[in-house]
Amino acid sequence: MREASPKTIYLKDYQPPEYLVDAVDLFFELDPHSTRVTSRLKLRHDPAVEDRRSVLTLDGERLEVESVKLNGRMLREGEYCASETGLVIHAVPDRPFELEIVNRLSPEANTALEGLYLSNGMFCTQCEPHGFRRITYYIDRPDVMSLFTTTVVADKSRYPVLLSNGNPVARGELRNGRHWVKWEDPFKKPCYLFALVAGQLACREDRFVTASGREIALRIYVEPHDLDKCDHAMQSLKHAMRWDEEHFGREYDLDLYMIVAVSHFNMGAMENKGLNIFNTKFVLARPDTATDADYEHIEGVIGHEYFHNWTGNRITCRDWFQLSLKEGLTVFRDQEFSASRSSPAVKRIEDVNLLRTRQFAEDAGPLAHPVRPESYIEINNFYTLTVYEKGGEVVRMIQTLVGPEGFRKGMDLYFDRHDGQAVTCDDFVRCMEDANAIDLSQFRLWYSQAGTPELRLDPVYDAGTRTLRLSVRQSCPPTPGQPVKQPLHIPLALGLLARDGRELPLRLAGEAEAGPTTRVLHVRAAEQVFEFLDVPERPVVSALRGFSAPVGLKMERSAEELAFLFIHDTDAFNRWDAGQSLMVQVMLGLIERIRAGENPQSLDPNLIGTFRTLLAQPAADLSYQALLLGLPSEDYVASLMSVADPDAIHRARQTVRKTLATALAEDFLRLYREHHAAETGGLEPAERNRRRLKNACLGFIAELETPESYDLCVRQFREARTMTDQIAALGAIVNSAHPDKADCLESFYARWREEALVIDKWFGLQASCHLPGTLEKVKALTAHPDFDLRNPNRVRSLIGAFSQANPVNFHAADGSGYEFLGDQIVALDAINPQVAARMLGALTQWRRYDQGRQQAMRRQLQRIAGLDGVSKDVYEVVVKSLA
Ligand code: TRP
Ligand code: ZN
Repeated sequence: MREASPKTIYLKDYQPPEYLVDAVDLFFELDPHSTRVTSRLKLRHDPAVEDRRSVLTLDGERLEVESVKLNGRMLREGEYCASETGLVIHAVPDRPFELEIVNRLSPEANTALEGLYLSNGMFCTQCEPHGFRRITYYIDRPDVMSLFTTTVVADKSRYPVLLSNGNPVARGELRNGRHWVKWEDPFKKPCYLFALVAGQLACREDRFVTASGREIALRIYVEPHDLDKCDHAMQSLKHAMRWDEEHFGREYDLDLYMIVAVSHFNMGAMENKGLNIFNTKFVLARPDTATDADYEHIEGVIGHEYFHNWTGNRITCRDWFQLSLKEGLTVFRDQEFSASRSSPAVKRIEDVNLLRTRQFAEDAGPLAHPVRPESYIEINNFYTLTVYEKGGEVVRMIQTLVGPEGFRKGMDLYFDRHDGQAVTCDDFVRCMEDANAIDLSQFRLWYSQAGTPELRLDPVYDAGTRTLRLSVRQSCPPTPGQPVKQPLHIPLALGLLARDGRELPLRLAGEAEAGPTTRVLHVRAAEQVFEFLDVPERPVVSALRGFSAPVGLKMERSAEELAFLFIHDTDAFNRWDAGQSLMVQVMLGLIERIRAGENPQSLDPNLIGTFRTLLAQPAADLSYQALLLGLPSEDYVASLMSVADPDAIHRARQTVRKTLATALAEDFLRLYREHHAAETGGLEPAERNRRRLKNACLGFIAELETPESYDLCVRQFREARTMTDQIAALGAIVNSAHPDKADCLESFYARWREEALVIDKWFGLQASCHLPGTLEKVKALTAHPDFDLRNPNRVRSLIGAFSQANPVNFHAADGSGYEFLGDQIVALDAINPQVAARMLGALTQWRRYDQGRQQAMRRQLQRIAGLDGVSKDVYEVVVKSLA
C-alpha cells in the first residue's frame, strides 16, 4: 500500500487564490541531467480576498531548490521550507513583492511525461493540468493568470531551435557553443498553458491572412525526416482558422502560431498558447503512411487545439472541476468543424457511436461522474469521455434548445463578458440564458448529475380521432454517490413517417397548424404525454433524431419497423441507428440460441433482404453507405446485456458477418470490383468515401476464406497505393487463416520499420486479432526490440488494443488476458502513472461479466491496489472500481 492515503479534493472547498502573480520571468539553462530554472515572480495579495496571511505556499514536485530571494534579499534556510509538494515562505510582505527562485530538475529521469522531459533527444513540456509544478515552484492553478517571458539557453548544435509561447523578442550567442532566445507572451495565461521546446527540428512554414487583414506566420516543427508529412496538418490549420472566423467571428490573436510534433506524449495534443504540442500521430500524414481515418483525426485534433485559443486560453477554467467548460465546448466546436469539412451525417454517427459505446459504459461503471465532477484524487483521471464527449453533447443540446442563431448570440456574449477571465460552467450557461432570455435552471442538472438517462417512448395511435399519444418517461440509474436522480430537461427531436416513407406534418395539441416535420419536444417531467393531431394513419415514429440528447432510447419496435426506417428514414442518423437496432435484435436472438447450446448458422431473411436492398441502392455518399453496412461492435452489444457473454457475442457477430457475406457474396464482390477499379489513390473526400465502402465490402468478402477471397486480399495488400488500402487488406489477412499471413506481416514490418506510427499499426493489428492464440503473440511482441513501455503510443497500440479492442481474447474465461494486463500495469505504473491508469479502463468494467470473470478481474485490481508505492493515478482507479 501507499504510505498515506491520497487526499480527495472537493469542488465545494474552492477558495479564490490569496495571491496574484502579475508577471513571471523564466530563465532556463537546459541540460538533460540537470536543468536549471530561475523564476522571477511579481506577486501581491489579491485585494478581493480579505483574510490576509503572510504565509505563501507554492506548488512544486521533484524539484531541488538552489536559492530563494525575496525583494532581492537571499532567504536563509529557516525562512522557507521545501517539501515533496512545494515551497512555503513563512513571511512575505503585505505590499507587492518580488521572489526569485532558482531550482533544478532532471528531464532525463522524467518518464511520466509531465513537466519538462525529453522525447527522442528533444526537450518538450506538458503542463496541463499539474505539470508546471514539476518545472518550477508556482501557484499551479488555472485561476492564477499572469504575463510570461521565457529565456531559453542551450547548446546550439544539439538544440538549434528554442521555442516558447508568444513572440521571440531577442536572441544571442554565448561562450561554450551555447545560444539563447527570449520569448514574450503578451496575453495573460495560467501556467498550464506554458510550453517550451528545444531540439533539432525542421520547420514547415506558411502564412494565414485573417479576416481583418493581419498576416499570421504558421510553423509546424517536426523531426527532419518527417518534414514531408506536414502538408495535411498545415492545410487543416488554415481551414480551422477560417472556419472559426466564419462561424464564430473569432480571429487569431498572436502574429505566430506554432505546432510541434513529439513522439512521446500522454494524450492527443495540447493547446499551449501560440505553441501547441502534438502527439506525432495527430500531425504526420502522407498517403502511403497514414489512413484516411488518420487524415480525418488530424484535421479534427488540429481544429480542436486551434479552437482552444478562444475556448480555453482567452477564457479559461476557474478550477479543474470546470474542465468541461473548455473541453466539452471545444469538442462541440471541433465536431462542427469536421462536420462542415466532410459529411455531417457520417461525422454525427461516428461521434454518437463513440459516445454510446464508451461514454455510456463509463456512466454505467464504478467511475461514473458528472460532466462537472464534484471530487477527485488525481485530476488526470478526469480527462474522460464524460467530460469531453458528454460535455460536448451538453453544449449541443443547448444549441438544439435555443437554435443556431440563439447559440451564436450566447457565444458572442460569452466571449464579450469573460475574455481574459477564469470562469465556470455556470458562467457559460448564464450567457446562453441571458442572450436568449430563457431559463436553463433544470437543464443545469446535466452538469451535476452523472449517469445515462433512459427515455421510454410509448406511442399509441387512435385511428378514430386521428391522434397519436406519445407518452414519454425518463429515469436515470443511481451512480456512485448519487442514489437518487432528478428529471432532466431533454430536447427530444422527432418526426413521423407514413407507410410510404413520407414525412407527416406535425401538429401538437393546442397548435393552430402543423409545423416543420422534425420537432424538438421539451421533455422535463418524469412522465409526460405529447399529443399529435390530424395524423392520417398509424405512423412510424422516428425518435431522437440526430441523437438530440445523450440518452438510452427504449421503444418497442418490430423488425419490420426497423427495416422500414433503415431504408426510408429521412433523418440520416436515425436511418443508420435503425439498422443498428435491427442488427442488435438479430444478434441478441443468436446469442440466446448459442447460450442454449445451439449452433445457429442461418439468419433472419429480413436482414439479408434489407442488406441486399442497401447494396443495390446507388448511394450519393459512399462513406454513409459503408456505415450502414457496419455491424454494431461487440462492446455495444455487451452493454445491452444484463450479463455480458463475450464468447457468445463474438460468435453471434461472426455468424452474422459470415452469413451476410455468403448470402450476398456477389453483391459485395460487384461493389468491391467497381470501386477498386476506380481507385486513384487520391485524397479528395469522394475518393476517401469510395475507399471506405470498398474496404467495408472487402471485410465481408474476407469472411468467405476461399482461395479467391485470399487472392483479393493479398493483391490489394501488395498493390496498395495508400495506407488505407494496405491496412484494410492486412487487417483482413491477419483475422483469417490466410496462408501468406506471416509473409505479409513480415514484409510490412520490413518496409515500414523506420516509421514509428506505421509500426504502431503493425502492433495494433496483431493485438486486436480475434483468432485464438493472440495472447501468446501479444506476449511475444512485448519482447520485440521495437516495443517500449516508455512510449505511450506503443503501449496503446499493443496493450491498449489487446485490452480494449479485442473483447473475445481479453476476456478469455481462464483470466489469462486479465493477468497479462495486470502484469503490464504493474510495470507501467513505475514508468508512467497517467498511461497506467488509462490502461486500467478495461478492468474497471468487471461488474458486467459473469462470476468467474468478475473474480479474475478483481484479483488483478486487488493485486494492483496492494502494490508498494502505487501512483495516485492508479490508486484512485483501482480503489473506486473495487468499492
Ligand atoms: N487539453 C488537452 C486537450 O486538448 C488535453 C491534454 C493534452 C492533456 N495533454 C494532456 C490532459 C496531458 C492531461 C494530461 O484536450
Ligand atoms: Zn481539449
